Amino acid sequence: MIVLKLGGSVITDKDREETVDGERLADLAGAIADQEDLVVVHGAGSFGHRYAAKHGVSRTEGTHDAAVVREIHGSMERLNERVLAALGAEGVPAVPVDPFSLAYRMRDGKLSLPLDGIETALGEGFVPVTYGDVISQQEKGATIISGDELVVSLAEGLGADRVGLCSTVPGVLDDADEVISEITSYDEVADYLGESESTDVTGGMAAKVRALLALDAPASVFGPEGIEGFLAGEDAGTRID
Ligand code: IPE
Repeated sequence: MIVLKLGGSVITDKDREETVDGERLADLAGAIADQEDLVVVHGAGSFGHRYAAKHGVSRTEGTHDAAVVREIHGSMERLNERVLAALGAEGVPAVPVDPFSLAYRMRDGKLSLPLDGIETALGEGFVPVTYGDVISQQEKGATIISGDELVVSLAEGLGADRVGLCSTVPGVLDDADEVISEITSYDEVADYLGESESTDVTGGMAAKVRALLALDAPASVFGPEGIEGFLAGEDAGTRID
């Protein structure tokens, strides 16, 4: 099976509050139309992030304010509805998976994500569509979970054959802005990506590459133009294996 993330900046207009890039989303949905055995994860873009930032909630900073949780989660639900509608319009049997109701973090930050429901949905021919969200965390109230973390957890837990990250860039870029075709160790790209452990809420490319290298399944990072090739099993963007 395949785990595919649609980056928040790919499917939304990052500069306009809660604005979907309808044309882009429809194109991506069209490319996904005939794909079976797929789980989709989407990011936040101009949804979600701004509410999290406004209230100082991140992957490590929690909140005990239920109204803040509702604000962040509500925004992500609105985006999820739009993504489901776009996929549905292309005939994708897309169904929602709400991370707040499903997952939580333990006090050390480790994610608990039960997969039985998602596995059952997949087995019944549905395409589960989940998203970066806010989730409960022991002793911290609620913290942010990024779409990338969900991708890693889903790929490991479901035994994904392939993982795809559709991003705004055509792949992982070197210092001449050329797409690096393959990455097999972090050392190869440390110079381009920097050594810093990411504290960025959204992860950043360095954290993405590290997490994807740790997966059993091969992963690809590509731009919107690469999605059809990726789903067809061809090389797209940067392969991380
Ligand atoms: C962020 O998810 C989730 C929230 C802020 C609620 P992501 O980190 O996966 O979103 P993008 O892809 O960077 O927009």
